[in-house]
Order: sequence, then structure tokens, then C-alpha cells
Amino acid sequence: MRQFNITNKTSKQSFVCREEDYILHAMLRTGIACIPVGCGGGGCGVCRINIISGKADFGRMSKVHVTDEQLNNGYALACRVKPKSDLVIECAPNSKSSQQRADLTKQLNEVSQ
Ligand code: FES
Repeated sequence: MRQFNITNKTSKQSFVCREEDYILHAMLRTGIACIPVGCGGGGCGVCRINIISGKADFGRMSKVHVTDEQLNNGYALACRVKPKSDLVIECAPNSKSSQQRADLTKQLNEVSQ
């Protein structure tokens, strides 16, 4: 079984991922936190990354979080991507997801006051 190094260009953190594993799940197993973690199943968009270099196997992912154009430019959901080589990535959270989190936080703050 082959395994590859996944490196976050921004945080300079790296972890190993087997080729049959999703990179977000491999990161969680190592205890490193260099990619935001959400639902873990392709539904929230929180784990969106940009693959700067390397080859990957892209699983099915929601076009709400990664459009076809973005996919062609290396964007993907870390919980839906398996490596085919060493990868260099950077986090690229979906702006819609970020806005939804901000809205939810605002609502929670209003309720708790
Ligand atoms: S963690 Fe939710 S889409 Fe990846």
C-alpha cells in the first residue's frame, strides 16, 4: 500500500496519508489540525482546500461547495480527496460556509443574551 506526504503550505505542517484514505480522515488520525474539520462527509464545505501540487483522486463532492471550474483549478473537499502522489495544499474554506458559520454564531449570541 502506498502512502504520501500531505503538506499544508501555510502552516508548514505535514502528515502521511495512505492512497486509499481521504486526506481529512488521515489528518485526524495523526492528531494534526491543519485543515478545518466539519461534517467529514462532503456536506458542509468547511474542509475545502486548494491542491497546489501533486495528483489526487477526487471523489463525488457537492457543486455547492466546489464548482466544476473550481475543481479544474485544484479546489476540493479534503474529506472527499485521496492522494495519488505527495500533495502540497492550502486551506480555502467555502465563503458560503464561512458566512453560514458567522450567521449561526450571531444567532447563538443573540439567543444567549
Ligand atoms: S468536512 Fe464537511 S465537507 Fe468536508
